[in-house]
Amino acid sequence: MKRIVLAAALAALGVTAVLAQSNPIAARKALMKGNNDNASNLVKMTRGEQPYDAAKVNAAFAQWADTAQKLPSLFPDNSKEGDQTRATAKIWETRSDFDAKVAAFAKAVADNRDKAKNVDDLKIALGAVGKACDGCHEQYRKPAQR
Ligand code: HEC
Repeated sequence: MKRIVLAAALAALGVTAVLAQSNPIAARKALMKGNNDNASNLVKMTRGEQPYDAAKVNAAFAQWADTAQKLPSLFPDNSKEGDQTRATAKIWETRSDFDAKVAAFAKAVADNRDKAKNVDDLKIALGAVGKACDGCHEQYRKPAQR
């Protein structure tokens, strides 16, 4: 049922649905790259290498929320291999656990979005989100290829 609702929501977002269907591996990699760019920007803020910028913080959380919403539809059965995917077979073997990791990520993003109002709070918020990233990668992403 949940998946049907999601599919309908995605269908309403025409373009995403087309990319997701034609090349879900490229679509999910592009989202992950965005996740990472945003995370490293925010890490720089917490280290004082960049000034705290509320607009950038907000944009990062918005992009993560968007990723969390799209992820469940980007791992169809026909996207287990190809395009040098780093997704592990386990995603399809323990799908409900993978979906739970997506939900945990969505929750970390939602719970911390309005808390990161200054550098100190951003550190805490970023820690919580980063834990959700790692919590999924641990089992569901293969190491980078050399
Ligand atoms: C629910 C699972 C999940 C969550 C949450 C998640 N990722 Fe990923 N991530 C993956 C999977 C699976 C891949 C491998 C995708 C592929 O290669 O098809 C991946 C790939 C990546 C990559 C490599 C992209 C590439 O071009 O090969 C980066 C970087 C990345 N994730 C960063 C992040 C960051 C930063 C966060 C948190 C803000 C995050 N991810 C949250 C599952 C997740």
